[in-house]
Amino acid sequence: MISQESIQQIQSKIDIIDIVGVFVKLKKRGANYLGNCPFHNEKTPSFTVSPTKEIYKCFGCGKSGNAIGFIMDHEKYSYVEALRWLANKYNIEIEETETSPAFKALQLTSDSLFIINNFAKDFFVQSLHDTEEGENIALSYLKERGFRKDIIDRFQIGYNPQAKDEFTTKAIEKQYNKDLLLKTGLVVNRDDKLTDNYRGRIIFPIHNQSGKILGFGARIIKSNDKSPKYINTPENEIYVKSKILYGSYFARTAIDKANECLLVEGYTDVVSLHQAGIENVVASGGTSLTVDQLRLVKKFTNNLTIIYDGDNAGVKAALRGLDLALEEGLDVKLVLIPDKEDPDSYVNKIGTQAFIEFVKNNKKDFILFQLEIALNDAGTDSSKKAIIVNQMAETISRINKAEDFTRRQDYIKTVSEKLKIEENGFNALVNKVIRDKMSKEEFKSTKTNFSEIENPTPSNDNIDQLLYKDEQHEQALVRCLLEFGLMEWDNETVVADFIFNQIDESDLSDFFDNHLLIEIIKMYRKWFQEDLKPNSKTFLYLEDKQISEIVMNLMHVELEISPNWKEYYDGHIPTREELYKEEVFSIVNYLQLRKTRRLILQNQLELENSKNIEDQLILIQTHQHLKNIEIELTKKIGTVIIK
Ligand code: UTP
Ligand code: MN
Repeated sequence: MISQESIQQIQSKIDIIDIVGVFVKLKKRGANYLGNCPFHNEKTPSFTVSPTKEIYKCFGCGKSGNAIGFIMDHEKYSYVEALRWLANKYNIEIEETETSPAFKALQLTSDSLFIINNFAKDFFVQSLHDTEEGENIALSYLKERGFRKDIIDRFQIGYNPQAKDEFTTKAIEKQYNKDLLLKTGLVVNRDDKLTDNYRGRIIFPIHNQSGKILGFGARIIKSNDKSPKYINTPENEIYVKSKILYGSYFARTAIDKANECLLVEGYTDVVSLHQAGIENVVASGGTSLTVDQLRLVKKFTNNLTIIYDGDNAGVKAALRGLDLALEEGLDVKLVLIPDKEDPDSYVNKIGTQAFIEFVKNNKKDFILFQLEIALNDAGTDSSKKAIIVNQMAETISRINKAEDFTRRQDYIKTVSEKLKIEENGFNALVNKVIRDKMSKEEFKSTKTNFSEIENPTPSNDNIDQLLYKDEQHEQALVRCLLEFGLMEWDNETVVADFIFNQIDESDLSDFFDNHLLIEIIKMYRKWFQEDLKPNSKTFLYLEDKQISEIVMNLMHVELEISPNWKEYYDGHIPTREELYKEEVFSIVNYLQLRKTRRLILQNQLELENSKNIEDQLILIQTHQHLKNIEIELTKKIGTVIIK
């Protein structure tokens, strides 16, 4: 883990113009900088960077974020990787905090495994090209299959000689630790002797995102029934199969450019398609996709096209896991390769252009494909139809992100047509499945998520619905706190003092409906009391993405006022900075008023339901009291407005 000190040191150096400027040509425009958005194709620039707020926003595609977020998005880095990139750029030495022996040992093991794998890769590459055996047996085989030299080099394909322990001997000579060698799977223990595990096999190294070698796939040259076609690295500290997509290191830029990721089964499929110039391709290794692999794809693109052999029994099994892809918001298409071919053999047979055409013209929608298979299986058995209807409702219900609404409706229409059922009824069924799931999830966690904040789900209750509209005010107050919190309120206090005086920590939840905003206020308060002088930037670079995102949205880049507008106004337009006290005062008042009105409503409800005279009397008194407060608050707001 990177120490908080190092993180702060990096933060203090961050110059967003400098950082974005590495990747985007920026021009100064007013207080902001403008350029062509690197995340979508455009001719007129709508990508804005604000140096003062330290954020960027594209008014074309909507992407926005801070400097770290930009590096993460643009370079497909994790948070920590982005920090390292920045540290490197600003020559900051990173201090690691995690010093527990267990962590150090883990770090040491991982580093060692990478070192051994790299050594092995070099050995295998050399064995392939620079030995007679390698050339005669392995290289000739690869050439026969049509693999070009430049592609063999690029993928660092190699060969492990047939002799019992050629690699093992070399590795022992290098004094690599035996346990570590066993961990890599390159070496096995046979009759108490260490021997090569991949004897006589072609070696495909498997790279991580930064090109380091996680493990290997080792293919037999002459097939025989006794041994498996491929031997893969066993699970260890760095080789975690469920998180690996073969080829992702070589495919990332191409996937970005095409905004599509092709997924095939095998090593040779990836290599052959690359050779044919189709580079946006990765392989799953023939098993069904895991959530981690889908998330990896999602880092690059929303569009996943799966290309499998048509007669493969694995297709159905692989598809089963794909409901997960819908939840991740991926748009999944399926292409089946005909005639007992696989992508490798098929592209070699028909050529690049025809292959691209074939994929383009044979994309099946994943959900509709599932339906097709289910309907075929059901045949004329009408009792099975009910099951299919429910299954499809379940599948479609997974398309549940707010931005995917239209897509879901399209499916509901098409699927109900294919099933020959009433669209409205099917729609209601899908909605019911979603509702059931949501109430289950709400039960699990009460934390609001960010997408719900912009589109709060109003409950059926009228009162609630009314009050939800007011979230703007909650947001406005947090924005004031972040922006003006440290500015003067009166001679002795600052704005934050005033706000915390008026809105007590113990009843924050009476003032705020949004849990995240409450969290921000609490964090601010803590830091404020510790004299850490928090401001919006403090929140912008938190690792908690939900918080930093909400803060970023609160502080969004404002559009410049156009020159004509300024001329038209001629005189002085007061800025928010000049009117901050009024703004804070009126928002605090508003929230207090809202709280009071909620209490009045609640009190009235209790009064209506109360049967006991004494209770009623107390409730009426409470009502009077609250009404007085309401009048006072309304007056205060009035004075501000008049002023
Ligand atoms: P295939 O049998 O289709 O192999 O398995 P392939 O990739 O087309 O290889 P060639 O073209 O025959 O040389 C597809 C993938 O399934 C995994 C490998 O990742 C392979 O690339 N697999 C297959 C194994 O892990 N072990 C096996 O024994 C077989
Ligand atoms: Mn093949």
